[in-house]
Amino acid sequence: MKKTSLNWDHPPAKYQLADDEVHVWRLPLDLQAVELDALGLLLATDELTRAKRFRFPEHRCRFIARRGSVRTILSRYLDVPPQSLMFGQNKNGKPFLLADAKSPPPTFNVSSSQDLALLAVARDRKLGVDIERIDPKHADRQVVASHFSSVEREALENLAEPQWLNAFFTCWCRKEAFIKAVGRGLSLPLDRFAVTVGSDRPGELIALDPSFGFHLSDWSLHDLPPLSGYATALAVHGPAPLISHFQGRI
Ligand SMILES: CC(C)(COP(=O)(O)OP(=O)(O)OC[C@H]1O[C@@H](n2cnc3c(N)ncnc32)[C@H](O)[C@@H]1OP(=O)(O)O)[C@@H](O)C(=O)NCCC(=O)NCCS
Repeated sequence: MKKTSLNWDHPPAKYQLADDEVHVWRLPLDLQAVELDALGLLLATDELTRAKRFRFPEHRCRFIARRGSVRTILSRYLDVPPQSLMFGQNKNGKPFLLADAKSPPPTFNVSSSQDLALLAVARDRKLGVDIERIDPKHADRQVVASHFSSVEREALENLAEPQWLNAFFTCWCRKEAFIKAVGRGLSLPLDRFAVTVGSDRPGELIALDPSFGFHLSDWSLHDLPPLSGYATALAVHGPAPLISHFQGRI
């Protein structure tokens, strides 16, 4: 019987997803020029236009690496050329694959922070993924005051600085992954639901405002294998999934 893996494994021989499976891919974004050139050829016109708008070459290259890698991996699940994939987005900007006549496309979500991205893929369920570089420059206590729930604020209050930093980013990622899974963007107030705080507690959604219109038990939060210097989280709708984690060297 398959089990949820605890490592970042080599890519699978077959890109196939059962109903209960979620695949999470770790994508390096600082690539050699030759790899970037190849990935750039896969992008659609609107993606190339967006790439050109980046002021700093580093940001442009990482964008091309992210979009090109995501296209490459998603195309293998559908067995079509990467450049043929077409994306739509919901009214809050959450992207989805447009269906072709023969097969319903997988659902997916992407997150990136500095030189790493994560891509989560499922057969047909809502999911959200988040990665954040643990960087004291972006650890904003004002964010805690304005966006975290009272339970989360209390849990953070009692922590000393090094633990606080990790707990802050873990909590942030769990909240973001949930928001991204739901796909309604920041129209779901971040302080009206609560997650577990700190990587010493497994990711769990612990409270949800009834006004959101869905049940706590319909969603689950998951921790991913460690990535040094980063916090990560995955949120999934429906029954507990079987999760595989892959290193996505293209
Ligand atoms: C846009 C948002 C979905 C995520 O933004 P982010 O954390 O800056 O970026 P990430 O790298 O995690 O995700 C970006 C990707 O998410 C996807 N995405 C965009 N809108 C989305 C939405 N509404 N729902 C889910 N995914 C979305 C896209 O694939 C996007 O990639 P792209 O830039 O190549 O188009 C949104 O939740 C946001 O702005 N969050 C910031 C909120 C905040 O202040 N949080 C404080 C801590 S809780």
